[in-house]
Amino acid sequence: MTNDDEMAFETALVARAAAVETLLRRLLDDRALTGEIARPGRLMAAMRHGVLNGGKRLRPFLVMESAALFSADGEAALRVAAALECVHCYSLIHDDLPAMDDDDLRRGQPTVHRAFDEATAILAGDALLTLAFDILADETTALPAERRAAVVLALARAAGTGGMVGGQTLDLEAERIAPDEAGIIRLQAMKTGALIRFACEAGAVVAGVPAGDRERLAEFGSAIGLAFQLADDLLDLTADAAQMGKATGKDAAAGKATLVALHGEAWARAQLHGLVHQAHALLEPYGEQAGLLKAAATFVATRNN
Ligand code: IPE
Ligand code: IPE
Ligand code: MG
Ligand code: MG
Ligand code: MG
Repeated sequence: MTNDDEMAFETALVARAAAVETLLRRLLDDRALTGEIARPGRLMAAMRHGVLNGGKRLRPFLVMESAALFSADGEAALRVAAALECVHCYSLIHDDLPAMDDDDLRRGQPTVHRAFDEATAILAGDALLTLAFDILADETTALPAERRAAVVLALARAAGTGGMVGGQTLDLEAERIAPDEAGIIRLQAMKTGALIRFACEAGAVVAGVPAGDRERLAEFGSAIGLAFQLADDLLDLTADAAQMGKATGKDAAAGKATLVALHGEAWARAQLHGLVHQAHALLEPYGEQAGLLKAAATFVATRNN
C-alpha cells in the first residue's frame, strides 16, 4: 500500500468517525423519546462516557465503506454504523468490569465502572445494547422492511450467544482450561470477529445486493476480524498503556488464550500478514472501488493503538 492510500484512509476514517459521533451524541441526549417515560441523568452520563470517549470508530467505518461500495443509502448506513458502535461500546464497558477483565483505563480515561460505579456500568451496557436495536427499528433508519429485518437479525446473531457474548464466555473459560489453536480461533472469531464481520456485511445488506456479494464481504470481515484480535494480542505484549489508552501486558498474566501465547510473536506476525493478503484478495472483484476497505485491512494489522 502506498503512502497516498494510507493518507486517504486516515482522512476518510476521521471524517466517518466525526459523522457517527455527531449522530451518537444526538442519540444519547437526555430527552426522553416517544414511548419512554424518562431518561435518568446518571445512566445517560455513564452511557455517554462509554461511547463519546474517542474510540477509533473502525466498525462504523467498515459499515459505511461497505455500504458505499454498493452505492447504498448513506443515511441508513450511518444509523446502522451508530447501532453497531453502541453494541461495541457496551461490549467494552462489560469487558472491563471487575468480574471480567477488571480494567481501570479505556480510551485513555477511567473505565465506566471506575468513573461511575459497577451497577451503573452494567446498566449503561444493557441500555446501549437495547438502544442499538431501537436505532435500527426506528423509522428514521429508512430501509425496506425486509432489509431492516435482515440487519436486525444479523446484528443479533453477531452480538449474542453464538457471537460476541458467547465468545466472551469462552474467553473467560479459557483462562482455566487452555483451548487448542482451533479453539482459540473460534473464540476470537466470536468475541471480536463477529461484530467486525457484521460491520463488513451490513453495507451489503443495506444495499440489498445479491447473496454472493454479501457472503464475500462477510468473509472479508471474518479475515480482518481475526487479524484485529491478533493485532490486539500483539499490542498487549509490545505496546504501553499511554499508546493504547488501556492497560497492556495483562493477557499473559491473566492466562488469556491467544495465538501469540501459543505460537509466539513471529508466527503471529506472519499470520497477520497472511490474513491481510487474504482479505485483499477477497475484494479483488471490486477493483479500485474497494481501495479504502483494502486500506482498512492493512490498518487493522499495522495499527499502533
Ligand atoms: C477493542 O476494540 C476491543 C477488541 C475487540 C480487541 P478497538 O481497538 O476497536 O477499540 P476502540 O473502539 O478503538 O476503543
Ligand atoms: C475484547 O477483547 C473483546 C470484546 C468483545 C470487548 P479484549 O479483552 O482483548 O479487549 P481489550 O484488550 O480489553 O480492549
Ligand atoms: Mg476481554
Ligand atoms: Mg479486555
Ligand atoms: Mg486485548
